[in-house]
Amino acid sequence: MRTGIFTTVAVTALAAAPALAQQAADAVAPEAAAGGVFESASDAVQASLAAKADGRPVEAENWMIAAANPHAVEAGAAVLRAGGSAADAMVAVQTVLGLVEPQSSGLGGGAFLVWYDGATGEMTTLDGRETAPLAATPTLFQNENGEPLKFFDAVVGGRSVGTPGTPALLAEAHRRWGRAPWPSLFDAGIGLAEGGFAVSPRLAGLVARDAERLGRFPATADYFLPDGAALQAGATLKNPAYAETLRILASEGAAGFYGGPVAADILRGVQTAPGNPGVLSAMDMTLYQVKERPTVCASYRAFEVCGMGPPSSGALTVGQILGMAGEYDLAAMGPDSAEAWRIIGDASRLAFADRGRYMADSDFVPMPTEGLVDADYLASRAALLAGEAALDSVAPGSPEFDHALLFADDESIELPSTSHISIVDQYGNVLSMTTTIENAFGSRLMVRGFLLNNELTDFSFRSHRDGVPIANRLEPGKRPRSSMAPTIVMQDGKPVLAIGSPGGSRIIGYVAKSIIAWADWGMDVQQALALPHAVNRFGTYDVEDGTAAAGMSEALTGMGFEVKPRGLNSGLHAIAIGGTLKGGADPRREGIALGG
Ligand code: GLY
Repeated sequence: MRTGIFTTVAVTALAAAPALAQQAADAVAPEAAAGGVFESASDAVQASLAAKADGRPVEAENWMIAAANPHAVEAGAAVLRAGGSAADAMVAVQTVLGLVEPQSSGLGGGAFLVWYDGATGEMTTLDGRETAPLAATPTLFQNENGEPLKFFDAVVGGRSVGTPGTPALLAEAHRRWGRAPWPSLFDAGIGLAEGGFAVSPRLAGLVARDAERLGRFPATADYFLPDGAALQAGATLKNPAYAETLRILASEGAAGFYGGPVAADILRGVQTAPGNPGVLSAMDMTLYQVKERPTVCASYRAFEVCGMGPPSSGALTVGQILGMAGEYDLAAMGPDSAEAWRIIGDASRLAFADRGRYMADSDFVPMPTEGLVDADYLASRAALLAGEAALDSVAPGSPEFDHALLFADDESIELPSTSHISIVDQYGNVLSMTTTIENAFGSRLMVRGFLLNNELTDFSFRSHRDGVPIANRLEPGKRPRSSMAPTIVMQDGKPVLAIGSPGGSRIIGYVAKSIIAWADWGMDVQQALALPHAVNRFGTYDVEDGTAAAGMSEALTGMGFEVKPRGLNSGLHAIAIGGTLKGGADPRREGIALGG
């Protein structure tokens, strides 16, 4: 067993996880531990919660799910036990998450899905990202002087709502890879919505914190602030409107969402939002399509790290960080070495510089996608890390690109929310899906029992800088750049790890760190997720408050970094595949892994 600052925390987590979980919960309140609310859950859920508290992965032979809420994981597990595929289970998990974790993802949002097919050995990535309305313009988030709106002035209301993609993605995944009857996949969500479920501490805490914004819209206020008071943890909550929406989806498929009364209510909600209406139209709903995208893979050590390409920056930026870090012997340095974290932190800054310059929806702007993860390019960028101190400044590089084009660096704000689902089924299929309504509670508009996204605020609020266009500017029909990084790691052509996280643009750092911890530092999947976070995107080194990562502050400051201890609220869910399946759930949130 290694000793030292980082492993001490990881090992401490193993020995005394409740203390660490409490510590993390305090640091990132209101992401409280789930204790109490799931006391009546099944023995399997109790065992899984206990494993997480002890810092152990959950082990199983045939199938595994890791996701953000025990109700959702149980729903997916029931599908897998009955012979369903990972795609079937995902539909059940997502529809329950939209009920019990409504602030993070749901029918009103979008998602990216990475699929490894156990029968063919092929990997597929599906883009269920929201689209900008056709009537939207690049100045949507600017005031009359052309200056960017304040973030929450843009978020709250109809203006930020993009065409939802999640319902179409569920249907497309089921069409391609489903085995179970589509209507059966909604039973768990309908049952819980009608019968009621216990409000989790995390949901209750977030409602209390956001009460003013949630209170602006009657349907939202009635649900989250009944009789004017924020929902309490442990209270039984029913959502008959959501059950009715799920029944429509179950019987009519995605068409029942993109047309008919559900679509009409969405459009009315967006277009008449008091103070901040939006321009989403029936045409946007009719035209919405899930897109299959080329998988983006980057080499790291003996692995290929594969995930979602544009319009997500996830796989490219994770791949760049790993590609640069892979030029250095992190394994020899170990997790307690400030030198290792200097390399990871500055590799991340370099990757984020490229992200801000080049990455956006490649259907609208040319992108040097292959050049960005080219091994020679990354080796040349990695050479910049050869010194001993933090880089004074970073700038985008010049990846190989078949266009002569000038882009300016972007300006977009992404706050953490979102949810991640990892599933392996008995047929050898692997699913990694990150799903979101963007900000916690999205636009705060609630329609038919679910919240609508504010995904359009993932676009750059500015369209140009000094007359030069920004790649991630808003354009009609375009998909906002994402940081979501649903990932499947391959070795010798076989999947060995499914992983992803919420966390806004910090998703990228959380996923990269966990892969390094697992691949280089010999940690099991639960240890890798629990390892304290240190994340650098734009210069400031965020270190996880109240953990041993914050103990790195002096060393990192001495190297020239600006360091900020803070809560770093990831929600990593991962499954390691090899021999048995090992599932891990982030101790910072309420999720579990469950296997069979
Ligand atoms: N809205 C979070 C993301 O797409 O990165």
